[in-house]
Amino acid sequence: MAKIVIQGGVPLNGDVMISGAKNAVLPILAASLLADEPMDIGNVPHLNDVTTSMALLGEMGVQLTLNEHMRILADPRGVDRFLASYEQVKTMRASILVLGPLVARFGQAEVSLPGGCAIGSRPVDQHIRGLQALGATIRVENGYIHARAGRLKGAHIVMDMVTVTGTENIMMAATLAQGTTVIENAAQEPEVVDLAHCLIAMGAQIEGAGSNTIVVHGVERLGGCRYDVLPDRIETGTFLVAGAITRGKVRARGTRSDTLDAVLNKLEQAGAHINTTADSIEIDMRGNRPRAVSFSTAPYPSFPTDMQAQFAALNTVAEGVGVVTETVFENRFMHIQELVRLGADIQVKGESAIIRGVETLTGAQIMATDLRASAGLVLAGLVAQGETVVDRVYHIDRGYENIEEKLSGLGARIRRIA
Ligand code: UD1
Repeated sequence: MAKIVIQGGVPLNGDVMISGAKNAVLPILAASLLADEPMDIGNVPHLNDVTTSMALLGEMGVQLTLNEHMRILADPRGVDRFLASYEQVKTMRASILVLGPLVARFGQAEVSLPGGCAIGSRPVDQHIRGLQALGATIRVENGYIHARAGRLKGAHIVMDMVTVTGTENIMMAATLAQGTTVIENAAQEPEVVDLAHCLIAMGAQIEGAGSNTIVVHGVERLGGCRYDVLPDRIETGTFLVAGAITRGKVRARGTRSDTLDAVLNKLEQAGAHINTTADSIEIDMRGNRPRAVSFSTAPYPSFPTDMQAQFAALNTVAEGVGVVTETVFENRFMHIQELVRLGADIQVKGESAIIRGVETLTGAQIMATDLRASAGLVLAGLVAQGETVVDRVYHIDRGYENIEEKLSGLGARIRRIA
């Protein structure tokens, strides 16, 4: 199993190019199932989750080609299978995103329930309830969601909680429904907005994406489009924290600062100087020890749960005490015990981790447990004295494109071993 080996202690310096957003490309790929013409999707990140998604759609009959410019041509005209198996859904929960499109376009879907995952139970009841409101008949049996429908009908749906993929599934299904759908308490994440923009380019009529009420006027059909995926705000945030934690200077290019307000705010509170342009963000922390920051994760535009582990790592070496509260997922502190192995001083009390900054971390062998936790551990390894070995890095490859190459480009002493 691949590992990442880091010799910590080098302040990072330089520019890093940000890839397309994982959480936008996955729903956009699923949206190809709604179209009756090919889609041309650009700024696709090179990630394991994208490969998994392509395999899943390929099995359904979507013809996919990836060119050397990282554009995917997705031709859905041959779709004739409507199954997302347990094998696929268990490796990538976002496979659930095929449910709405399949039901809306083909009137049938068999999609495995995701089951538990490392960061919590993560049910999909809101996806199911929303599709039922649109007129689908859904049975959950033998671990699978079996859905059938005639043409869906617009409905007024109030989500019980803010769910990103839940909102996306219902929004996608509603594009082909008869009449108008109103989704209240919708997720406002930039990736939901990006998906809406892509659907609009395909011919959908959607208003309000980015607010908590999305209105979809159903249309008869959706066609192809050419669409470039928005930059990854979580990858961006991770590289900015890499700059901060190593007391360096890093410029993230090809990104969008307007999707990162809560994160940039916390970095400034930590003492970083931030400079933004239309498509870049520079962080300068040279000569400064970061100050501890406290925050609570919550749906966008609040502080993202996907940046929690990285800021927990930052707090471990900061001046003062930071309280990190996780409200989105119930079990997203697995990185904490690993950070303690590097010498961090952390106490977990319920939903909160109380992190007292120490002067230095020291290298150790640690284990990645989920995607974002692994990013936090790599960041800690960048400042730990001596050698840190992060095991099970396949988690990181799900969501970060060439992380060790990008970090090496900034001067980090990092390599991958088999
Ligand atoms: C998405 C992101 C993930 C991010 C998360 C929260 C993708 C592919 N993944 O995941 O990176 O960490 O948003 O920002 O976009 N819930 C229910 N019932 C449901 C749906 C959700 O109880 O039907 C709960 C979940 O257990 C969780 C909370 O709602 O506690 C939010 O989860 P959700 O927004 O759905 O996360 P994902 O869409 O899976």
